[in-house]
Amino acid sequence: MINITKLLVTGGAGFIGSFLVERLVEEGFDVLIIDNLSSGELNRLRNVIDRVKFIKDDLKNLSDPGAFRGVDTVFHLAANPEVRISVTEPRIHFDENVVTTFNVLELSRKYGVKNIVYASSSTVYGDAKIIPTPEDHPIQPISVYGAAKAASEIMCGTYARLYGINCVVLRYANIVGPRLRHGVIYDLLMKLKKNPGELEVLGDGTQEKSYLYITDTIDATLKAWEYAVKNGGAYTYNVGNRDSISVRDIVSIVIKASGFNPRIKYKPATPDGRGWPGDVKRMLLSIDKIIREVGWRPSMSSREAIELTAKSLAEELGVGNEGAHS
Ligand SMILES: NC(=O)c1ccc[n+]([C@@H]2O[C@H](COP(=O)([O-])OP(=O)(O)OC[C@H]3O[C@@H](n4cnc5c(N)ncnc54)[C@H](O)[C@@H]3O)[C@@H](O)[C@H]2O)c1
Repeated sequence: MINITKLLVTGGAGFIGSFLVERLVEEGFDVLIIDNLSSGELNRLRNVIDRVKFIKDDLKNLSDPGAFRGVDTVFHLAANPEVRISVTEPRIHFDENVVTTFNVLELSRKYGVKNIVYASSSTVYGDAKIIPTPEDHPIQPISVYGAAKAASEIMCGTYARLYGINCVVLRYANIVGPRLRHGVIYDLLMKLKKNPGELEVLGDGTQEKSYLYITDTIDATLKAWEYAVKNGGAYTYNVGNRDSISVRDIVSIVIKASGFNPRIKYKPATPDGRGWPGDVKRMLLSIDKIIREVGWRPSMSSREAIELTAKSLAEELGVGNEGAHS
């Protein structure tokens, strides 16, 4: 491991952030978290809360900017990750995803932070023309969330070139695992909890995307960070799986995990069957670059990641017939 001690994780009480914090603490780092708990939960940090410094604060308007003093690396994960609401509430996404990133970069510059790892997203590509999509594919987002991520990425790269801050942009595919509180698996399970007899599915079910398990995601994040610290400069990597899975298949896996037998109702929002305007229909990232340069590769497939997540979330959320999880 690298010789760095003080790390800041923004959004550390979130789904991905809490797993990242656990790993960093396990590896002996001094970890500071800034999170406004808008979608974060302190309960996610219960295994490590007495070994980290937690600051409840809002990155749109930090009350204690001095918190950045002495930080070597910022893992910037704080954001509103709900792609769907960015269609109807664009300003929320501008404020939570662009303004927060700008503030993090400015404070990093001011307090001499050396490295930034930015949690971007596959949505920056929009409806990609090349699949699997490589990092040098044109950036043409079709959601305001994707646009906010793209704007933030460009800002990170510019700060790297202009101010010499090492920067890694990670374009995550759909990340799944325990503690997840958004996305298709969570939505389906919560609907089944409310009404086990009927399941409404957004889209026509033919949407086909790539899913990565949380532990694979944390491995990729740490390896890419180490690579940037060692070599210096600015890097962009896709972080996803080699395969994809359809919403129809996800629905079957989730229903099986619940033990229910609902009537399924598909609800396409567009003539070509998307779940909502701005929903990317097909996403599969090329991960050749991160494999080649960083030496990371996923350990389980999209299907395995979904199966494991559906099972653990059904238990966490208390959804299902007794015995369905055994
Ligand atoms: N989960 C995925 O599938 C996925 C895919 C691609 C990219 N990402 C990105 O990864 C990051 C983490 O996603 P996640 O799934 O863990 O989401 P999450 O909602 O669980 O975590 C986000 C965290 O940021 C905090 N936060 C939000 N706005 C804040 C603000 N203004 N100030 C301080 N804290 C704030 C929230 O309270 C929450 O704890 C996000 O940037 C997201 O866009 C996630």
